[in-house]
Amino acid sequence: MENNYEPVVQAVGLTKMFRDFWHRPKARAVNGIDFEIKPGEVVGLLGPNGSGKSTTVKMLLGLLYPTGGKVTVFGKSPREVETKREIGYLPEESYLYKFLTAEETLNFFGSLFNISAEDRKRRIDQLLDMVGLAHARYRRVGEFSKGMARRIGLAQAMINDPAFLILDEPTSGLDPLGCREVKDLILALKKRGKTVLITSHLLSDVEDICDRVIILYGGKIRAEGALDELLTVSDKTRILTPQLPKEAMEKLLGLLRENLHGEQFNVDHPRRTLEEFFLDVISQARRESVETAGVSGSGGIAEYLVGDKEDKNAVLNSLLQETPVEEKTAAVAAAVPAKSSADEKIASVLETEKTAAVSEAPATARSGDTAENIRRANDKLDSLLGGKSGE
Ligand SMILES: Nc1ncnc2c1ncn2[C@@H]1O[C@H](COP(=O)(O)OP(=O)(O)O)[C@@H](O)[C@H]1O
Ligand SMILES: [Mg+2]
Repeated sequence: MENNYEPVVQAVGLTKMFRDFWHRPKARAVNGIDFEIKPGEVVGLLGPNGSGKSTTVKMLLGLLYPTGGKVTVFGKSPREVETKREIGYLPEESYLYKFLTAEETLNFFGSLFNISAEDRKRRIDQLLDMVGLAHARYRRVGEFSKGMARRIGLAQAMINDPAFLILDEPTSGLDPLGCREVKDLILALKKRGKTVLITSHLLSDVEDICDRVIILYGGKIRAEGALDELLTVSDKTRILTPQLPKEAMEKLLGLLRENLHGEQFNVDHPRRTLEEFFLDVISQARRESVETAGVSGSGGIAEYLVGDKEDKNAVLNSLLQETPVEEKTAAVAAAVPAKSSADEKIASVLETEKTAAVSEAPATARSGDTAENIRRANDKLDSLLGGKSGE
């Protein structure tokens, strides 16, 4: 394998053995796995429940220490503070302070990364729109449905504009619309050059967004590869044509019979996926402004139908308008190649904020003084819990 890039993740013989109270080996959750993630890749870590996905992820994050082998993230130990700064993490279970509102939650996590109050506010506006929670800004996250909790978790993982996102079961608890939106969001992040690792036990949820998948079972890698390679049946051929007139079809079938010498072949109509069909039905209903109150049994659907898509388009549209976000934007915008898409626009906005955040942070606050950051974060949490907001 050529190696003219620095891998985002490199794991060699990575192993995690859990021991019981008496220090006896209890479970070999991850058993000597080797893998690499390249910059800009979207990689799916797939496997049934208990196969070792979350344990692997926690080792990448430095939350669990490997009992064997080695893992580096951006060439460094996952335990280094500098490494953590570049990573966004959506935990399998969202660890949300249930008495904070959506806005306060993002504000809190933003303060952990030393993002200035002004930049925090701007990012929170954009993130809440992006994940379709603008309408729930002042609602306490304790009241959120599972899907909403996933969304706020995703926003939280993105508050520091990380280069590498680790999403543990990002689509769990989401209905098909929510699922599609999360997938589109991940694709938009990929376009912006982010590296993404997604774990899932629902294969269809990752099939259309991953460049590559790693299939874990019993703590070992059972299969790995680019989706195209893994899923293409290369010893068969399929020809897709518009509807053929009867004579043409007869001719074609004759030709096939002649050439296949008795081998079986199939002629059928291609099928859409159930997801495509479902999303079509829903968007049709929305175009006809069908009243959705009657089908709000699941809680999530009505909300998506009345809110999200509109909100998201509104953000994209507002981002596409040629109004600079701040005077600071101008300088950076010049360095960004001709912007035509919303993604690029978002990219340039976040890039500007990154630059701004760095230049505004006092020099001393940038490295080393983690204790100080934690103290400030605690103060912040105290003030948020005490019902006050902001600085
Ligand atoms: N803290 C722990 N202590 C003991 N065993 C654990 C612990 N965490 C996970 N395991 C075990 O390790 C295995 C892998 O778990 P996990 O990584 O959570 O799987 P997945 O995320 O693929 O569902 C399971 O058998 C699980 O019971
Ligand atoms: Mg898990």
